[in-house]
Amino acid sequence: MADKTLITAALIYANGPVHLGHLVEYIETDIYTRFLKFSGHDAIYCCADDTHGTPIEISALKAGVTPEEFIKIWYDQHVKDFSDFLIHFDSYYTTHSKENENFTRTIFKALKDNGHIYKKTLRQLYCEKCKRFLPDRFVKGTCPKCGAQDQYGDVCEACGSTYKPIDLKSPFCGICRSEPAMKDSEQYFFRLGDFSERLRAWLNDNKNLQSDIKNYVLSWIDKGLEDWCVSRDSPYFGFKIPGEEDKYFYVWLDAPIGYIASTENYCKDHKCSAEGAYWKSKNSQIIHFIGKDIAYFHLIFWPAVLMGSGFKTPDNVVVHGFLTVNGEKMSKSRGTFITAREYLQILDPEFLRYHYASNLTHTTGDIDLSFEDFKNRANNELIGNIANFCYRTLTFIDKYAEGKIGKLGARNADLMALERADDLVRKAEKNYYGFALREAVKNALEISNVGNRYFQENAPWKLAKEDPARMAEVLAIAANLVKKLAITLNPILPVFSEKIFKSLNLKDVKWDDFRETLENHKINKPEILFRKIERVEFSDAFATLDLRVAKVEKVEDHPQAEKLYILTIDLGDEKRTLVAGLKDKYSKSDLKGKHIVVVCNLKKANLKGIESEGMLLAADDGKDVGVLFSKDKPGAHVVIDDVEKRPAKELTIKDFAKFELVAKDGKAYYKDKPLKTSDGEIQVDKKIDGKVK
Ligand code: 2FM
Ligand code: ZN
Repeated sequence: MADKTLITAALIYANGPVHLGHLVEYIETDIYTRFLKFSGHDAIYCCADDTHGTPIEISALKAGVTPEEFIKIWYDQHVKDFSDFLIHFDSYYTTHSKENENFTRTIFKALKDNGHIYKKTLRQLYCEKCKRFLPDRFVKGTCPKCGAQDQYGDVCEACGSTYKPIDLKSPFCGICRSEPAMKDSEQYFFRLGDFSERLRAWLNDNKNLQSDIKNYVLSWIDKGLEDWCVSRDSPYFGFKIPGEEDKYFYVWLDAPIGYIASTENYCKDHKCSAEGAYWKSKNSQIIHFIGKDIAYFHLIFWPAVLMGSGFKTPDNVVVHGFLTVNGEKMSKSRGTFITAREYLQILDPEFLRYHYASNLTHTTGDIDLSFEDFKNRANNELIGNIANFCYRTLTFIDKYAEGKIGKLGARNADLMALERADDLVRKAEKNYYGFALREAVKNALEISNVGNRYFQENAPWKLAKEDPARMAEVLAIAANLVKKLAITLNPILPVFSEKIFKSLNLKDVKWDDFRETLENHKINKPEILFRKIERVEFSDAFATLDLRVAKVEKVEDHPQAEKLYILTIDLGDEKRTLVAGLKDKYSKSDLKGKHIVVVCNLKKANLKGIESEGMLLAADDGKDVGVLFSKDKPGAHVVIDDVEKRPAKELTIKDFAKFELVAKDGKAYYKDKPLKTSDGEIQVDKKIDGKVK
């Protein structure tokens, strides 16, 4: 193996939350990197947010913030989500960085100097109203093949055929719906065709790539590679091309260069350089993990760009399939589009890591998350089999052997159990190296089976009275099996494994320590390892909100603040005080007696000396404000369809701000669903369309 290994996962776009589909790859990559590190290799895991391009620019525009502000919000959320799933990055960076801009310029210049870049005039659809060229996904129209309406500019969802946006019939702008025109513009192209032979040789020489992927990519080359347009006109969010007025590098050029920039970010703190230590070094290996949808970018464009600019090509690209949930594509309406956060609100991250590892093979087959399997696997395998064996052994030693592991037994059955386990650890090692995580999990389960069988057959609970000396020997063997098991599972279940090491009173354990036996060793008190899953029921984050109807009983002026009222409200079974900034929009008598809607589980806030125990909801269009109200009685729960209420203990105002509640035509909505009580829909008491806050 090379001296140094750089491992990457694909860069997530900075325009949405991490969801369970993304996590397949980040978890797979994390497990692999943890395994290498645990086995003593010098390996690092680098990644970043992918921040450029038209969709992000437009999303920021819609959100009313700058693209820089927009990508920062997602960056922070991504970092937190990954960390809570125990995904450890040695560098988690952003493509919107100085380093990335420098590397992108350097690479582009090298490609140009080496004759791989040329300029050509391109005819593209242009929206006069939006003043922008329209990328494929921003043009809609009628499919030229089957006539289905409202199809995107690249592929028809009705008949599956692919085409160019200019082939669409009656095209319209996806943003403003006006009819686009054709417009010429000069763009930079990368001569991809020049690299066909080098790419072919690289693919054929590479012994690491999955064979189906290799054949696929070779067949693309056989069909002929088209040159690649690597620039875009403004408006765009990205890096400006030096020497150009209004042109930017295309996001897919600078995104993978973000791998190099993230490596550089790591190197800054580790006395090395991305180029010297990894990207131009003979002693390094680079491994990308990606999903099959972006194979073209990583096995054609990217290596060609690297070849053309004097960098090293990747040593391996590990391609996985898509995630299905209950056998189908994730879908919002089926409630199977689950974000990382939604999962974490109800389940342990290690259950998902275990489930994914149990399903991951070194192939591009899709992996399924069936809630039923997921639950059974966690409850029966992980808890019932693995954790149970560990916990039982450790508590037994704690209770009946004064927390001490004594001398190892040396009977045939004892030696056999240890040997069998060692053999399985070695098998797991091979499987980890070969990206065969499913097999590694099977090996671990088998160790656990060996342990459970050994424990059962040697019945230490009987020996406690009959033959305490033998009991000690048996427990020592069992403790060593526990240790081997925890080592085998460490890359997949780092928290579980650490708990066991701690109970076994072991520090800085490494993979190779499985060979060393524990004897005459004092242990610590065992910890509870997992709690069983009762039911797997994911729902929208809306479930965490506690919205109720309240009657305004009293309205008073806030003594310290001109614009604030102090409201006394009745929630049916309790009274509360609210502070509300409605004074310039509502008179006291307007409010008194109204049945308003209140967020009841908001963290209490001190507003100019008065504690506010919740917040009333109102629509705001920037000019006027209209409070939400209901005809229902005080205390009535405000809900949306299909989401069962499961309020969080307490939400911060920041948590609450993430809910996009809007008012439209006199009603209030969350994700297009009207807010309501069992008595009917919530209403807005003025004609105000805007955000509800
Ligand atoms: O497909 C995607 O989600 C891209 N953001 C992946 C980029 S990976 C790398 F090339 F930067
Ligand atoms: Zn338009």
